[in-house]
Amino acid sequence: MDEKNIKNLIKKTGGIPSLPEIIQKVNRTVSDDNATADQLGKIIEKDQALTSKVLRLANSSYYGLSRHVDSISRAITILGFNSVSSMALAVSVGGMFAGKGREGSIALTDLWEHSLACGIGAKAVMDNVQNSSTDKAFLGGILHDVGKVLINMKFQQEQKAVISSVCGGGIKLLDAERQILGFTHAEIGAIMGELWNFPKDIVETVRYHHRPLSARISRDTVCAVHMGNEIVKAMGLGKSTEPHVLPVMEEEWKCLEIKQAELPKIISAIHDEFNRAEEFMSL
Ligand SMILES: [Fe+2]
Ligand SMILES: [Fe+2]
Repeated sequence: MDEKNIKNLIKKTGGIPSLPEIIQKVNRTVSDDNATADQLGKIIEKDQALTSKVLRLANSSYYGLSRHVDSISRAITILGFNSVSSMALAVSVGGMFAGKGREGSIALTDLWEHSLACGIGAKAVMDNVQNSSTDKAFLGGILHDVGKVLINMKFQQEQKAVISSVCGGGIKLLDAERQILGFTHAEIGAIMGELWNFPKDIVETVRYHHRPLSARISRDTVCAVHMGNEIVKAMGLGKSTEPHVLPVMEEEWKCLEIKQAELPKIISAIHDEFNRAEEFMSL
């Protein structure tokens, strides 16, 4: 199914859920190269719930700050614009995954745990790349499977059939999705990301996280997310609806200029960070 047909199908099922105004503003600010830390701080501070969640994360053991941070502007000064904007988006999307009372054909909490693990995995990979954005990799990992949330809302019967053919028949998830739904979670996730004004490199990551070498922009981030995804599945962190661990291509290591010998170090960093990320689970 091409993009136009997928969009029509989404329309027929009542469209995608709207993203809260505040998050749309955060998205626009993050996508704007000229936006300042001050602008971002003011937008977040207007929303009490978002502010308190971001501060809770900033003060969690995940970030390991030595002093308590009690304002968004302080969090931005200490952790940086990118970290805080990633946190704000993670909080908003995390809320959707948590989807209290909205369990469909998959357990959203499992998917959230997998997504968080993938974010941590992608960041740990990117930590080994010089001059790279680890925040982008983290956020890309958190959002990479967002299409599954939409499928869970709109196409529950089909998703159930997809999962049983993946688990029972040993078919790869993407093949089962193409056969049963006519599109993949990566394709519908990217459409959703565009409609929600996600930053372009995040949309690219969502679209290509299963074939990162096709990415046209931010290929390093997309490769890191793909690697993170496969590494955390192999480690058994979180639970993905794609249980098969798929290969990482030689070219992906080359794209990131990381030696495969770094893998044990990456795995131990993921292990460590995942244990400290408890606060993220309960967003
Ligand atoms: Fe995926
Ligand atoms: Fe995944």
